[in-house]
Parts: sequence; C-alpha cells; structure tokens
Amino acid sequence: MSTFDEALTLEGEDVLLRPFGLRDADAIADAMRAGEDFLPPNVPPPGEALAWWLETGAHQIPRSGRGLHLVVADPRTGELNGTIGLYRPDWPVRAAEAGYGIRPGARGRGLATGALRVLARWALRADGGGLNRIELRAGTGNHASVRVAEKAGFRREGLLRSAGRGPRGLVDQHLFSLIAADLADHDRAGQADRAGQAGRAGRAGRLVGVGVGPGDPELVTAKGVRVLREADVVLVPVMALDEEGRAESVVRAYTGKAERVVFALNDRGGVTARRAAAWDAAAERVVRAFDEGAATVAFATIGDPNVYSTFTYLAQTVRELRPEAEIATVPGITAMQDLASRSGTVLAEGAESLSLLPLTGGVEPFRAALETGDTVVAYKFGAVAGEVIEALKEAGRLEDACYGARLGLPGEQVRPAREVAGPVPYLSTLIVPGRRIARGGRL
Ligand SMILES: C[S@@+](CC[C@H](N)C(=O)[O-])C[C@H]1O[C@@H](n2cnc3c(N)ncnc32)[C@H](O)[C@@H]1O
Repeated sequence: MSTFDEALTLEGEDVLLRPFGLRDADAIADAMRAGEDFLPPNVPPPGEALAWWLETGAHQIPRSGRGLHLVVADPRTGELNGTIGLYRPDWPVRAAEAGYGIRPGARGRGLATGALRVLARWALRADGGGLNRIELRAGTGNHASVRVAEKAGFRREGLLRSAGRGPRGLVDQHLFSLIAADLADHDRAGQADRAGQAGRAGRAGRLVGVGVGPGDPELVTAKGVRVLREADVVLVPVMALDEEGRAESVVRAYTGKAERVVFALNDRGGVTARRAAAWDAAAERVVRAFDEGAATVAFATIGDPNVYSTFTYLAQTVRELRPEAEIATVPGITAMQDLASRSGTVLAEGAESLSLLPLTGGVEPFRAALETGDTVVAYKFGAVAGEVIEALKEAGRLEDACYGARLGLPGEQVRPAREVAGPVPYLSTLIVPGRRIARGGRL
C-alpha cells in the first residue's frame, strides 16, 4: 500500500474519525478567528481559501501521498471536536508521524487518547494503513500531549533538541514511537489484564442486557450507548445469520461490534426445541467469550430487557453454566411508551391502573381487563387482531384506542385502532387509555 484511504472513517470509544467536509467549514473558520491552536500546521488554509480547500477535496492529502487528516468528531452529532493526522510518510520504511489537536471546549475528556489509539491501531494493521512505525513528537513542556502519547501506548525513544516551535520560540521535543510489533504485545497484555480483572473480582465476567428501545436509534439511553461501546463483545439476536436483527440495526448506529446470535424469535407454543437450542447456544457463546478474556458481554434487546425479552432466558442459562457470572441490565424505552409518545396518548393518570397483556394465549384476558375501565396495553396480538378489534367494539372502547406498528422502524404506522383492518405485523402495540371524563377525574 502506498497511499492512505481517501474516505476513511474509524470508530472508537466515544470518538469517531471521519474525513473533512464542507460541513466543517464554519467550525474551522470560528476556531481560526478565535485563534484556537488545535489545528495541525498544514491544515487548513485561512480565509477564502478555506471553502476552496474543503470543496475541492484538497484537504484529502492522501491524493498527494503526503498523509492523512481526519476530523475527531462527536459520534452522536458528527460535530468537529478536533483533528488528527498522519503525515511525513516514509513509504520505504513504512513510517509516518502522528499529530493531533482538540478544540479547547472538548478537552479533558480523553478524546485525543481515544482518537490516537484508534488511528494508530488502524495505521499499523496490514489491512489498514499498512505502516510499521508511527512517530510522535511532543514538546517537553506539553505535559498533556506527553500523557496522551503514553496512554495510547507510545514508547519514549529520546530527546530531539530545538526541534519544535513553542509559543516562546524553539523547544526541545520528546520523541515517541509505536510499532506494529508493540500492538501484539498490547493485545496480549490487554487480554491478560481483562482476564485478571474478571478473576480478581471473583467472577467469570459480566453479562449485561441492554434495552435499545423499540427501533429508533435516538431512543437509547446514554448509559446503554456507553455499555455497548465499552463491552468487549456485543451480541444481537437475529432470526437468521444473514438477516439484520431489529436490535442490531439500533446497535449499529453506535458501534460496529455487533455479533449475531440466532434465536427462534418467531416460534410459537412454549419452549420449542429450536428455542431451547438457541438459548443454549447463545449462553455457550457468552461463556466462551468470558473464557477468552472478555470482562463484559452486552446483549442488546428491543425495548426493555426486563419486559418480555429473550434476555431473561439467556441470563437464566448463563447463570446455570457460570453461577459466579454477574448479570445486569440497562433499562430501555418500551414499545408502549414509544407509542404513547408518538400518538399523544396518556398511559395512566390519577388512580388508574395500567395493564400490559401479551395476547399469545388469546383475547379473553384482554376482554376482562377492558371491563375495569382503566388503561390496557396489548402486545403480541398479531394472530388475533380481528378479535381484538371486536372486543374493543363490544366494550365501547374502540374510539379512544390507538395502534402502532414497527415503531421507529421503516414502515412505521401510528393510527386510531378503528382504522385497523386485516392482518397486523408482529411488532404491533395497542393502547386503550382509561376512561377519562374530566380533568383530574381519576385522582
Ligand atoms: C417480545 S416483546 C418485546 C417487548 C420489548 N422488550 C419492550 O420492552 O417493549 C414483542 C412485542 O413488543 C411490541 N413491540 C416491540 N417493538 C415494537 C415496535 N417497534 N413497534 C410496535 N410494537 C413493538 C409488540 O407488541 C411485540 O409483539
């Protein structure tokens, strides 16, 4: 490989590295006006040339083989928090120099370390940047930069005298490097460390069920995102290995780590052989991950992991195989909450009760719940949708009921239940709000 990739995007913990684009023009212009010092020396030109620089792609320095400059972006918003680059490439020895800068407002959050780790790991991989050595120079008085280099695993090689320019003239610089062989050492040390951590804590790893909401990637909690990103392994349930799962599409908005495990998600009729085999296989995968050194395995599940989730059975099976494993959950937004919000329906007020009923066993419990006059929510009623509508009519509660299908996913529907006709998809939810006559009438 003799040049760097032009459209490179790399993802790390809480950091996204992406190419520069026109969207960055304002942030860069603001930073230059404010005299911020985070931009590497050769990025970018000031004034009118800035727009040209971005528009023409001149910032894609790889085209000239001189290096690579990427935006250190917020993974959620894509906003520019800093820049990182590899320059002065020496292709015969497969070496380059790394440089980075973080905007003053985004400092102190470990972004530079995270960005440097991700970029260096990519650059030193044969199937990545193909380099063997990355150099890094930090002024002897630039303690923050020295810490970043050390935390990212760079080794100090020596002192370069009068080699850089500081605010008050020429300065000495520490020379650091990271070479491809160091990465193998780091990986081994990291694995031993993680296994050690699990062993020291007296447990065989931690399984976390992470609720990722009904489908809209914006409806995942900040904690859920963090746990998914920090986990050593992220498992997502799918019906078949070649199909993207519902939880998976949400997880992929935040991390590329998703590994598919097959579950008989659409089986009916209790503990089928297929279902049991799937729980066993998934639990064995979790235990194998612990044995290979994973401290945390996250399992993503739609909605909330404690509400009709397959996570319950996985956790039970893992507990049997590895009683000392720690099991935890991160709550997620349920489909009924999402439908309440999207349809403008109040789920419960005053002294009303709120009943959530899965209708896999038929509509009788639903009919009984409608009698109370309080709020009733139905899940899993795909097979009995016609009877559900009939029951609503008989109870005189069809008018207020609202229906939602594939919430947050392509093909979403939210409408009054009276408009429902014909078969409905498995991902359908129904809310029958309590009978309310006056403001605060149920207080
Ligand atoms: C196995 S349960 C999963 C419940 C989920 N853990 C929760 O907390 O909402 C599946 C049922 O949840 C409801 N559901 C889940 N995601 C949905 C979505 N995106 N749109 C509509 N209903 C959904 C449907 O009633 C579906 O039959």
